[in-house]
Amino acid sequence: MSEAHARRVQAQFGGSAAASVTSAGHGAGEDLDRLVAWGAARRPDRVLDLATGGGHTALPFAAIARRVVAVDLTEPMLRAAREHVRARGGAHIEFVAADTSALPFGDGAFDVVTCRTAAHHFADVAAAVRQIQRVLRPGGAFLLQDILGHDDAEASAFILEVERRRDPSHLRSYRAAEWKAFLRAAGLTVMEDAVIWKIREWGDWTGRMRMSTEARHELETFVRAAPERCRAAFDFKLSGERVESFNDRQILLRAERD
Ligand SMILES: C[S@@+](CC[C@H](N)C(=O)[O-])C[C@H]1O[C@@H](n2cnc3c(N)ncnc32)[C@H](O)[C@@H]1O
Repeated sequence: MSEAHARRVQAQFGGSAAASVTSAGHGAGEDLDRLVAWGAARRPDRVLDLATGGGHTALPFAAIARRVVAVDLTEPMLRAAREHVRARGGAHIEFVAADTSALPFGDGAFDVVTCRTAAHHFADVAAAVRQIQRVLRPGGAFLLQDILGHDDAEASAFILEVERRRDPSHLRSYRAAEWKAFLRAAGLTVMEDAVIWKIREWGDWTGRMRMSTEARHELETFVRAAPERCRAAFDFKLSGERVESFNDRQILLRAERD
């Protein structure tokens, strides 16, 4: 990853670490339940959670695995996550500062690798996926959740702009076919995939990233001025001048190392 992009991610998440650990959207949801169910079915011994953020995925995996290692690029995020999980049954989670594209673990070290709500920040997704394949044992599982790229170019450009104005470290999200190609190229076979929707409350979603009132108003103006078909693609709800919510489309994938 470029130094400039790594610094952008660290600036973004270093400042929002406290809000991330207490975020209801990160701490629960159908997507997390699905990842944990997929993981539990594997009865894993060693789990690696990539880009752990507030540790919300690492924590439930700590209840089903003997060893959980949680990796993140942002040190303040790791500190906040460690503090958050300590009293919640995750005292044995090990936190490691690293970039997903250069993981400091041996080949085949994990039974399961998870990555939730993070890959849209990765500068080199193909490199990250190669690392995931390398650290998984043969037959091990990769469990992914991320924002789903839209098939329509105009809707895709619209939501990318919305995401980037809220979080400048957002790079892009990928369509299901793109994920499958990344995984296939690295030697991982997709066994199951699903798309789910998550309603984002505008105030919570923009507030978590510490947008200024002015920046939030500018973003609302941008959303209101966008073509109706773009807003409709994400079910944006408006109330007068205000944006109330939108639906975030997410992809879930379960893949196995060949
Ligand atoms: C939205 S948070 C992750 C949420 C978390 N996985 C969960 O389940 O709630 C995104 C995290 O990705 C981390 N991150 C972004 N790029 C990264 C990279 N290349 N390597 C490691 N961590 C990265 C950020 O520091 C941030 O903490």
